[in-house]
Amino acid sequence: MAKIAEKCPHIDVTVVDINEARIAAWQSDDLPVFEPGLLECVKVALGRNLFFSTAVDEAIAAADVVFISVNTPTKTYGVGAGKASDLKWVEKCARQIARVSTSDKIIVEKSTLPVRTAETIRKIIEGSGNENNMQVLSNPEFLAEGTAMTDLENPDRVLIGGETTPEGTAALNALVDVYANWVPRERILKTTLWSSELSKLTANAFLAQRISSINAISALCEETGADVDEVAFAIGMDSRIGPKFLKASIGFGGSCFQKDILNLVYLCESFGLNEVAAYWEQVITMNDYQKHRFSRRIVKSLFGTVSSKRIAILGFAFKKDTNDTRESSAIYICQDLLTERAEIAIYDPKVPAAQIFRDLGLDAEGKDADGNKLVSICSSAQEACDGAHALAILTEWDAFKEDQLDYSDIYKRMEKPAFAFDGRNLVDLDKLREIGFEASGIGKPRVE
Ligand code: UDX
Repeated sequence: MAKIAEKCPHIDVTVVDINEARIAAWQSDDLPVFEPGLLECVKVALGRNLFFSTAVDEAIAAADVVFISVNTPTKTYGVGAGKASDLKWVEKCARQIARVSTSDKIIVEKSTLPVRTAETIRKIIEGSGNENNMQVLSNPEFLAEGTAMTDLENPDRVLIGGETTPEGTAALNALVDVYANWVPRERILKTTLWSSELSKLTANAFLAQRISSINAISALCEETGADVDEVAFAIGMDSRIGPKFLKASIGFGGSCFQKDILNLVYLCESFGLNEVAAYWEQVITMNDYQKHRFSRRIVKSLFGTVSSKRIAILGFAFKKDTNDTRESSAIYICQDLLTERAEIAIYDPKVPAAQIFRDLGLDAEGKDADGNKLVSICSSAQEACDGAHALAILTEWDAFKEDQLDYSDIYKRMEKPAFAFDGRNLVDLDKLREIGFEASGIGKPRVE
C-alpha cells in the first residue's frame, strides 16, 4: 500500500487495523516490520496520501477499492487441521465490508488464499442483502521478504483475476490502471479469478520444489564428493532450468512455502487427487529431512553427543535482511539440539530475544518447562562463540561472511577441536580449515 501511495499521489490510501499499537508504529520511525527501503517509502507518502487508522468502518465506507490483507494461518483445529488455511479473518472482513458499505466497491483479495475464496467473499456479500455493486478481484502478491521494495518497484508480473462479466472487467481494468502508474502494461496479467488464485499457490510450490530438488542432490553430493554449488551452476546455465532458487540450504522457511504447499495438498486431496497430493507433499518431506539431517550431522561430528556442549548459532531469521522467523529452519535445528541437551548461544543481527524464546517454546527468561536454561541470546557472533565447541551458520547474513567476521578471532575463542557447520554455504570452507576449523557445508565434499 505504501508503494501504491508513493507511485500514485492522486490516490488516497488508508491502511486500517484493529491493533492500535501497530497503527501507531507505522507512523513512527520504528515500523512493525524490518524491510530495507520500507521506511523511506512510507515517509514519502505519509500524511500526503498515505494514512494509518483504527477507524475501520469509516475507512471502508469512504473507499472505492478495499484490499483484504489479513492473515490466513494454517488451521490448527477441526476439518483440514494442519493443512487447510483458516479463513475466519477473511470471512470477518467480508461481513464487515457488507455491513458498512453504502456505495459500490471493488474488493481485492491480497492475502494468499486457497482457490475459490473469492467466491466465498462474493457469496457472503450477496447474502448480506447489500444492494451496491460489489466486485471481487484476486491480486496475489509475489514479493519476497528482504527484497520487498525492489520487487514491488520492478515486479516480474502483476497478476489480477476477475469475473468475465462487464462489471467484473470494469473492476479489473480499474485495478490495472492503478498498477500501470509504474508497471509496464505488458507485465500486468489479467486472468479469471480461479486462475489467479491457483497461480499464486503454484508459483510458490514450484519455487519450493526447486529448493527441495537441489537439497536432495546436496545429500548425494556429500556421499559422492561432488560440490552442489558446481552442480547448481552447471544446471542453471541451461536456459530451460535457469540459475535462480538453486541454492542448497538447511531447507526453506518463511510464512508462505510450506503453508501454500499444504494448501495445494489439501485441495488435491479434497478432489480425490491422491497421487497429485502425495507428489507435492514430498517437497515438504524433503525439506523436513534436510533440517534434521543438518542437526544429526552436528551431533554425529561432535563424537555422538552434544550434551552440555555449547553450540553457537549464527542467524535465526528464515533468511537474511528480515527479522521474520516464521517457519525458520533455525527453530527446528535448535529444537533438535535442545532435545540432545546442548547449550545453545544464539546471535541474530535483527531478531529480538523474546521472539527467539517464543519460537523455541521457552518462557520469557529462556527457560523450558522443567526450569532448565539451555538457551542464551548473545549480542555478537564473538560472544556466542566464546567457549563453544561448534558454530552453525543458519542464516546467510552478510555479517557472517569471512570478509566481515574475523574467523581467526572466533577460532581462538572456541573449544578445540572447533567445528564449523555452514548451513548456507556462505563461507569459504578451505579458509576456515586453514585457520584450524573442522569445517563442513551443505552438499560439499567432506574432508576426512
Ligand atoms: C516467498 C516467494 O518467493 C514469494 O514470491 C511469495 O510471495 C512469498 O514466499 P519469501 O518467503 O519472502 O518469499 O522468501 P524467499 O526468498 O522465497 O525464500 C524462502 C526460503 O527459501 C528462505 O528460507 C530461503 O533461505 C530459502 N531458499 C531460497 C533456499 O534455501 N534456497 C534458494 O535458492 C532460495
